Amino acid sequence: MKCRRCHAEAAVALPSHNSAFCPECFLDFFSRQVSRGIEEHGLMTKSDRVLAALSGGKDSLALMLELSRQGYDVTGLHIDLGIPGSSAEARAVVERFCARFGFRLIVRETAAEGLAIPDVKEAVKRPICSVCGKIKRHIFNRVAREGGFNVLATGHNLDDEVARLTSNTLRWDMGYLADQGPMLEDTEGFARKVKPLWRLTEYETANYAFLMGLENHYAPCPYSQGASFSTLKSMWIGLEEKMPGRKMHFYQGFLARGRSAFRAVAPADSEILAPCPSCGSPTSSDVCGYCRIRSLVLGRRHPGTSGSPQADGTAAGCQELDTSPAGK
Ligand code: AMP
Ligand code: FES
Ligand code: ZN
Repeated sequence: MKCRRCHAEAAVALPSHNSAFCPECFLDFFSRQVSRGIEEHGLMTKSDRVLAALSGGKDSLALMLELSRQGYDVTGLHIDLGIPGSSAEARAVVERFCARFGFRLIVRETAAEGLAIPDVKEAVKRPICSVCGKIKRHIFNRVAREGGFNVLATGHNLDDEVARLTSNTLRWDMGYLADQGPMLEDTEGFARKVKPLWRLTEYETANYAFLMGLENHYAPCPYSQGASFSTLKSMWIGLEEKMPGRKMHFYQGFLARGRSAFRAVAPADSEILAPCPSCGSPTSSDVCGYCRIRSLVLGRRHPGTSGSPQADGTAAGCQELDTSPAGK
C-alpha cells in the first residue's frame, strides 16, 4: 500500500478517507484535520488563552501537542482525582509529558478540596462517573476563570461525539440534541468549551500519539461504568467497517442540518441563574451542584458540620455551574 501523497510505503490506512499515508504525511493529515476542525466552527484563534484539560490519555496529550505545534497559547490542566491504582500514574504521565515538551502545567487535586473520588463514591447514591464529571467541570471552570483563560479545550474525538450523539438520539433528548457540537459558547463567567479533535477518530489519535512517541495512560478508570458508551462505540466500529465514512457523515450532517432543527423546537432554557450563596457560581438551584456534593461528602465525614466551603475555607472562590450536555 502506497502513501496517497508521496507514494512512499504507507503506514496508516484510513478507509473512511479512502486513503493511506506514510508516517510523515499522516502527521500532516492530522494537523490539517485539527486546523480544519478549528476553522470550520471558529473554535479559537491564536490570540485566545487556551487551557487544555489533560487526563493523561492519548487524545488529550495529542491535543495539547498539536495545538502547541500550531502556535496556540496553550497551558495544560490535570485534575488528580485521588483514585488508588489510577490517578497517580495518570498524573505522572501528564507531568512527564509536559516536562518533555516544556509545556506549562497546572495540577489540581480533588482531595485538597475534601473530594477524593473514592470518598465521594462512598457518600453519593448516584453513579460516580456523572458526579466525578461535575466536579471536574467545576474545577475546569474555576481554574480557567482564576487564570484568565477564555477557552477550555478537551480531547473528545469523533468517536466520543458520535457515541454521545447516538445516545442523545436514542433518548430523543431534544435539549441535548439542540446543544451538542464541537463548541459551547462562553457564558458570563465561563470559558468557551471546545473539542478541536472532533474530526479525528480514536484510531487516528492513537496513530498520532504512537508516531509522536507519546507515552500515555491506558488504564480505564476502575469505577468506569461506561458500558453504554462502549456498546455504542462498538456498534459504530461495525457500521464504519461496512460503510467507511458514515461516522463523519452522520456527525457533520447533524451539525449542518440536524442541530438547527432541534434548536427550532427544543423548549427554550427558562432557568434563571443566581450566584450560589456558598461559592458564588451561577446556579438555578439554591446551592450549586458542586457545593451540594461537597457538603454531602464533608458532612458525612464530620457529622454535625455543614461541610460548606465557608466552613473550612478550602473552596473559597469556586465558580461554576455546568449543566452543559457537551461536557462529560
Ligand atoms: P473522558 O471523559 O475520560 O473521555 O475525558 C474526556 C476529556 O476530558 C479528556 O480528553 C480530557 O480533555 C478531559 N479530562 C478527563 N479527565 C481529566 C482529568 N483528570 N484532568 C484533566 N482533564 C481531564
Ligand atoms: Fe471519574 Fe472514573 S474518572 S469516576
Ligand atoms: Zn457553589
